[in-house]
Amino acid sequence: MSTTHTVAIVVGSLRKDSLNRKLANALIRIAPPSLSMSIVEIADLPHFNQDWEDNPPQNVLAFREKIKAADAVLLLTPEYNRSVPGVLKNAVDIASRPYGQGVWIGKPGAVVSVSPGPLAGFGANHHLRQVMTAVGIKTMAQPEAYIGNAGDQFDDKGELTNASTIQFMGKFLNAFVQWIERNK
Ligand SMILES: Cc1cc2nc3c(=O)[nH]c(=O)nc-3n(C[C@H](O)[C@H](O)[C@H](O)COP(=O)(O)O)c2cc1C
Repeated sequence: MSTTHTVAIVVGSLRKDSLNRKLANALIRIAPPSLSMSIVEIADLPHFNQDWEDNPPQNVLAFREKIKAADAVLLLTPEYNRSVPGVLKNAVDIASRPYGQGVWIGKPGAVVSVSPGPLAGFGANHHLRQVMTAVGIKTMAQPEAYIGNAGDQFDDKGELTNASTIQFMGKFLNAFVQWIERNK
């Protein structure tokens, strides 16, 4: 019997028509049966404040618990000014504390950058890899996923229609399963 791995997806955009969210939803649909993936929302998280350490807000605790409960994490990032959007960095910081007890520690993880531009969020992808390493995520090195020209890859209903991206992301998810199984 094959094992099912739960994956917490964090989408680094709050925009309702977010291309990153559309891709996240497509990944949930095309995921192999061994992955049970769902989006953990970050829209209601407050700005991180180190003064909380002894008594964090309820939504902060709930977010940390959801990440803690997952076997693996998948972060999808837009690129803002060649880096990671503040909302996503904030979410990563929130779940990295208290010091030494961050819930990212030891989780197998992967990153996908999605941009309407041709550079595919390369800068954000690599800044995020640096942060993921710092918080203890075992980040999959290969294959890398840079989804550029993303505005042309979805239909009016938000479905991913680009055949080569569907095929590539299928391979990416299969590699992620193997990465999770080696690092869980
Ligand atoms: C503040 C800001 C900065 C941006 N900087 C970049 C950038 O450096 N590189 C890039 O490819 N796109 C950049 N963009 C465009 C985003 O890639 C685009 O808005 C994208 O659709 C955001 O992702 P989403 O669709 O998931 O919300 C920027 C957008 C904003 C709002």
